Amino acid sequence: MRSLCLRVSALVLALSTIGAHAAGAAIGASLTLDAAHSGPVIDRHIFGQFAEHLGHGIEEGVWVGPSSTIPNTRGIRNDVVAALKAIKVPVVRWPGGCFADEYHWRNGIGPANQRRAGLNPNWGGVIEPNTFGTHEFMDFVDQIGAEAYISANVGTGTPREAAEWLEYMTAEHTALSDERAANGHPAPYKVAYLGIGNESWGCGGAMSAEHYLEQLKMYARYSRNYLPGQTMHKVAVGPDGAKTEYTETIMKAWRDKVWSWDIDGLSLHSYTVNGWPPAQKATGFGEAEYASFLKETLGMDDLINTHAAIMDKYDPAKKVALVVDEWGAWLAPTPGTNPGFLMQQNSQRDAVLAALNFNIFARHADRVRMTNIAQMVNVLQAMVITDKERMLLTPTYHVFKMYVPFHDARLVPVHVDGGTYSAGAIHMPRVDAIAARDPAGKLWLAVTNVDPHAAVTLAVDLSGVSAAAAVGETLTAPRIDAVNTFDAPTTVAPKPVSARVVNHKLVLTLAPESVTVLGLQP
Ligand code: AHR
Repeated sequence: MRSLCLRVSALVLALSTIGAHAAGAAIGASLTLDAAHSGPVIDRHIFGQFAEHLGHGIEEGVWVGPSSTIPNTRGIRNDVVAALKAIKVPVVRWPGGCFADEYHWRNGIGPANQRRAGLNPNWGGVIEPNTFGTHEFMDFVDQIGAEAYISANVGTGTPREAAEWLEYMTAEHTALSDERAANGHPAPYKVAYLGIGNESWGCGGAMSAEHYLEQLKMYARYSRNYLPGQTMHKVAVGPDGAKTEYTETIMKAWRDKVWSWDIDGLSLHSYTVNGWPPAQKATGFGEAEYASFLKETLGMDDLINTHAAIMDKYDPAKKVALVVDEWGAWLAPTPGTNPGFLMQQNSQRDAVLAALNFNIFARHADRVRMTNIAQMVNVLQAMVITDKERMLLTPTYHVFKMYVPFHDARLVPVHVDGGTYSAGAIHMPRVDAIAARDPAGKLWLAVTNVDPHAAVTLAVDLSGVSAAAAVGETLTAPRIDAVNTFDAPTTVAPKPVSARVVNHKLVLTLAPESVTVLGLQP
């Protein structure tokens, strides 16, 4: 590997424009593209989001109300909408989370001044004003161009309440659709996904898998979508991390199901936490913490393998998707904030973490067809952070934007050899990569160098591919814990990168702890 590095080093200097950190000797790495073969389509829903009534996730983060001095459209912040539109958010899961199993949709419809305020006991015990309800959520997803993923209340609700919510949203010519029209929306709404409960093994009722299964059958039967021509995918609660009881029980029942119920997805929740309660620092962490956190996040691959193997047993045709509808870094809350609001900063490490997870999801695209990072705004590993009228884009936001070319692209197999990055007893592959062809046929590469010390000289073998150059962006930072702040909002921001292809080889220098996405040009 080192000899390859020496051979290509002259080319690197000549061709690559990447390399904010490239001061020391770069480590050689190779990537071979199997362009003659193609894998599954990477469903764009893999890049989905989750927005819960939690802290400032909705209130202040998305919803400021129509009378706010913060620029808004019907109460929804214009800056946040513009930022989210730019990353082409495909789908938003709402209203929770744990909140969903205590959410009663009738509290969130009708004139704003007549809405019934409630409590949010899960998240800080604050008053939930219910001013952002069904109509406001549908307006929000419409403004950002996303689909709606509604979580039905199984914990404290009933099949009837969920069925009526669906009728209210999707039907025409019924008393409930007339009520929707009277509340300002004559046309039915599109509900692309319906989640039947949330973490029913935990905050959603601590149900055994067998008990949840009986609930699931009722909800799956009676929660109907009435909008013609619109498919609504039903997602069942699935495993809590590596526990397999829910996966086995639901998938076995699905194989043996009777005509009256069906599901299209099974949910998996898995956060990168490094112990409970979450204590990992958002900034000011050292390399040992960096390495162990990334090592833990790579466990997503084993987790998916575990559950996918069970699903394959009962569903070899892969009709039921594994839906990772909560994932991301869960860190210690920002000091001085309400710990129940789950506010945390978001660093270059978290950008690398997001890229590693995207690559894992893409490699499992045959089974993983939707994921939803937790969460969209101001909560956990957020895309944007707001403070009154100000908004900043996080490093994670930039990774979502850089990966847009992978939406609905077809995976192309790659073989990467970048050696091992070690920190003490922790070892992991230094370089991780995926490649895919977008619907227009253009080939894209995403490459992550997790090593915080060494730049990597990557030689990409493009035999069988017609390309003269590669153009894209790279995201790196001066430090592994670098963050964007309101005073310095562009500390971590992507920079353009380009390189020429010479003799079917593309040679790139990847900065330490960096994420790079490139499209091949004719
Ligand atoms: O995302 C925060 C919480 O984490 C969600 O409400 C819950 O589903 C999970 O435990």
